[in-house]
Amino acid sequence: MTTMDRLRRTWLVLARRIRGSRVWHNALTRYAALALAAALIMIAALAPLTSVMVEGWSQRDIELRARLVFRSIRDQVAVGIAVKPEFDLVPFFDRLAEDERIQSLGFCTAQGQLRYATKLLPKAVTCQSVKRDKSDAFVTVADAGKRIHVSSFPITAGSSTGHLLVLHDLSYIDDRAREAQFYSVLALVGVAMGLGLLASAIVLGLMRAWARSIRSAILDAQAGSGQSASLKRSDFPISREVHAALAEMQFERRFAEGIHVEWSPKTLHRLLKDELPGAEVLVVSNREPYIHNHVDGAVKLQIPASGLVAALEPVMRACGGTWIAHGSGSADREAVDRHDRLRVPPASPAYTLRRIWLTDEEQDGYYYGLANEGLWPLCHIAFVRPVFRERDWAYYVMINERFADAIVEEAATDAPIVLVQDYHFALLPRMIRNRLPKATIITFWHIPWPNAETFSICPWRKEIVDGLLGSTILGFHTQFHCNNFLESADRFMESRIDREHASVTLGGHETLIRPYPISIEWPPAALADQAPVHECRDAVRQRFSLPADVRIAVGIERFDYTKGILDRIRAIDDLLTRQPTWCGKLVFIQAAAPTRSKLDSYSTLQAEAMQLAGEVNARHSRNGLQPIQLVIRHHEPSEVYELFRAADICIVSSLHDGMNLVAKEFVAARDDEQGILMLSSFAGASRELSEALIVNPYDTHGMAEALAVALGMPADEQRQRMRLMRDLVRQRNVYRWAAQMLLDAARLRRREQITVASATRAASAAE
Ligand code: F6P
Repeated sequence: MTTMDRLRRTWLVLARRIRGSRVWHNALTRYAALALAAALIMIAALAPLTSVMVEGWSQRDIELRARLVFRSIRDQVAVGIAVKPEFDLVPFFDRLAEDERIQSLGFCTAQGQLRYATKLLPKAVTCQSVKRDKSDAFVTVADAGKRIHVSSFPITAGSSTGHLLVLHDLSYIDDRAREAQFYSVLALVGVAMGLGLLASAIVLGLMRAWARSIRSAILDAQAGSGQSASLKRSDFPISREVHAALAEMQFERRFAEGIHVEWSPKTLHRLLKDELPGAEVLVVSNREPYIHNHVDGAVKLQIPASGLVAALEPVMRACGGTWIAHGSGSADREAVDRHDRLRVPPASPAYTLRRIWLTDEEQDGYYYGLANEGLWPLCHIAFVRPVFRERDWAYYVMINERFADAIVEEAATDAPIVLVQDYHFALLPRMIRNRLPKATIITFWHIPWPNAETFSICPWRKEIVDGLLGSTILGFHTQFHCNNFLESADRFMESRIDREHASVTLGGHETLIRPYPISIEWPPAALADQAPVHECRDAVRQRFSLPADVRIAVGIERFDYTKGILDRIRAIDDLLTRQPTWCGKLVFIQAAAPTRSKLDSYSTLQAEAMQLAGEVNARHSRNGLQPIQLVIRHHEPSEVYELFRAADICIVSSLHDGMNLVAKEFVAARDDEQGILMLSSFAGASRELSEALIVNPYDTHGMAEALAVALGMPADEQRQRMRLMRDLVRQRNVYRWAAQMLLDAARLRRREQITVASATRAASAAE
């Protein structure tokens, strides 16, 4: 079971458990039992208290009553004992004892003799057993299982003294205490139950509302819809903690599940909102996404033939922000505002394009010179010798500085996310780091990185590696290129390499080195307006005057020596030589966009390709059909996709390529699940598209054999291969490419925030 499966299962179990009524039943039972136990404890504690209180009150009552009796008969008794000793007080006492509370009365002489006593005076009560002080005294004695309260009052009459005893039966107090206890217990039970029910109802209501809220937050998170509106921070006392936990889980989940999320502009946009709230995105590249050119007296908008643009433009449409690039079109200055900015795409603006102007000399040095005569051949093993000129390097440094200044101008905050693109800007990450130390700089190197031995050819190898190590994250298409970079950093810099975490630390700053295989948008925008495949085939056949039975192979790219264009023409030649039955039955259409034509290596290539095509056509033309159709001009995306859809075979025979997005575009174009991709093992794409026919472009005959296999491949096998490749490109689209980098950046930004917060705490604790 994968991490993703485990997480998904946890979500479901959590959500189901909260929803299940058993949870409520158990919670309520437990809560009621607890309330009952608390009520019983209260009752057990209060019941004896009631008896004590009743006893206390009654005792005081009896004493008052005894005093009252004493005061009311004191004089008669005094007269009796002092003046008329023959006077019998017993009948007088009997009359008083008729009161239901008074049990009996008696009189003790000073000598301790019981002179007068009513009949009921208990035997246990003697003049010796009661207190006979100078003041009133009270005692309780037991007689035949009853408690008797004895009040003793001193009486003085002349020389005679004695004590009057007034006895009360306390049984009625016990009855009264029991009764009071009963009613108080009854009342307490009633109150406890009432309060318990009320509290249960309140708690239950709160718990239900709270759980409903958490549940919907979890389900929202499970569906990937970000922070739940239903769980507001102020709703419940612990909602903040719940929120934090959910946010953490969501983040971890997305991070762990990255590959399984169906990445789209929407999910990418939400990722930015949730994981990098408020972050501003700046992209820097040499090539701009939209070029304005003067064509036949009018201004024409052109989308350049560039893998970088094809990949990043949809990302910027989803994220918004600012894209800073060289304004290379002849009408570019007319399209910008006074800050050299314009909103693009022109039809439905989503982000800002900021154009940077270069003179011809600057472009010669920085772009044609150092970037394309030096670094391009250095990084591509295509056996074209790199050229390094001091003057070109000076321009390269100067233009990198110019772009760094532009980034500072465009940045509205001190911690933007800057996406630096490609080999034109190796020095830029360090320059940005110096100007905006808090920026998150993600640099992506779109071409291969050679091994350290090869890279050591470059006279400015140290400066280049140092410049790139200003990045927060440095990305390549493949792990192999990451390893090569780590090796170069190890060889040329005094840095610390952590191979386990794939990072390089230089001067206390750590840069992560990560593979992020680039891709294309899914579905490609250019596919939306395409006709069905059979119509595309008819249109292309008509345009190239091809009979219905002719098979079509295509190659579509910039006219670059790394693409192996000559090699694929040679492979066609080889096939037609060995299997002449294909003459007149197979055509290879090469759509090649002129590029960097100012450079000898490029103009020579064009001349060579035209000559070679002419030779092959002369050798193998049949019935007026030339097997090689070389179309050297810029093709708009709609034309490119039409060609892809019309083709039986697409040949991508790069001699060396970082990724090669043409291979992925061909797969994306074939929603009919037909067509065969022939793909060079030296293109990064071959690591992912393993269902293509993988070829070695240096092996002409091997390529010709692969062509023969492709021409004979049954429709069913084509479907199976194409389906697998389409699944992969759909899942690993360009939004995922950007998302992976942004998620890594978000994690680093959080880690940075924690480090800063704990350092601040430590500093204030030290004060
Ligand atoms: O391969 C590197 C790269 O930047 C590609 O992304 C792009 O297709 C190509 O070079 C563009 O080259 P240029 O901008 O020089 O025409």
